[in-house]
Amino acid sequence: MAVAIRPATGADVAPIDALLRTSFPYPEEADLLRDLCVAGDMVLTLVAHDEDSDALAGAIVFSRMAVTVAGQAVPAVALAPLAVAPAYRRQGVAEALIHAAHDGLESAGVVLSFVLGDPAFYGRFGYDAAVARNFDSPYAGEHFMALPLQGGLVPCGVREAALHAPAFSRLGTQ
Ligand SMILES: CC(C)(COP(=O)(O)OP(=O)(O)OC[C@H]1O[C@@H](n2cnc3c(N)ncnc32)[C@H](O)[C@@H]1OP(=O)(O)O)[C@@H](O)C(=O)NCCC(=O)NCCS
Repeated sequence: MAVAIRPATGADVAPIDALLRTSFPYPEEADLLRDLCVAGDMVLTLVAHDEDSDALAGAIVFSRMAVTVAGQAVPAVALAPLAVAPAYRRQGVAEALIHAAHDGLESAGVVLSFVLGDPAFYGRFGYDAAVARNFDSPYAGEHFMALPLQGGLVPCGVREAALHAPAFSRLGTQ
């Protein structure tokens, strides 16, 4: 099996939608991606592509957030959704997607990436609830984590706003 990571193209839209609708027990994650696209809030979408079968193995999406630090707007993103097709799980595909995406976000000058999810899973990639606690968010809690990029240049300790794109409102809060 040869799985390659690359930016998503228009041809990936329908397979990603199908992947999200089968990966989650509810349609909100697929609907979130559609709404983010319509609103123009997408920042980065990568896919894991099986070069042998031409199948979609996984996808990861990052969207724009409105985040201020010391009164200044800083480039920040939210990771969601992330999914790997069942046949490709537990082989490091999600890990490869996350690492490749972080490299791309670093290059693009993004300074913070936020995620709502399992601390045991995302913690291994550097996401930390202690960093997210510096920001006011309706998702605040142990599942709301942030990863400082750019070598952790962003000063923390001052409680400021971290607002997700409007499309997230359909997901509710935890
Ligand atoms: C969560 C999800 C994205 C993980 O995808 P994945 O490609 O299986 O993730 P990885 O392979 O990188 O890591 C998952 C596990 O496989 C293990 N693993 C990685 N490579 C492995 C390998 N070659 N052999 C065996 N296990 C391996 C990892 O250590 C990890 O183990 P752990 O979680 O038990 O500690 C996938 O299960 C999924 O799409 N779930 C449904 C949607 C979902 O829940 N998305 C996340 C929402 S926050």
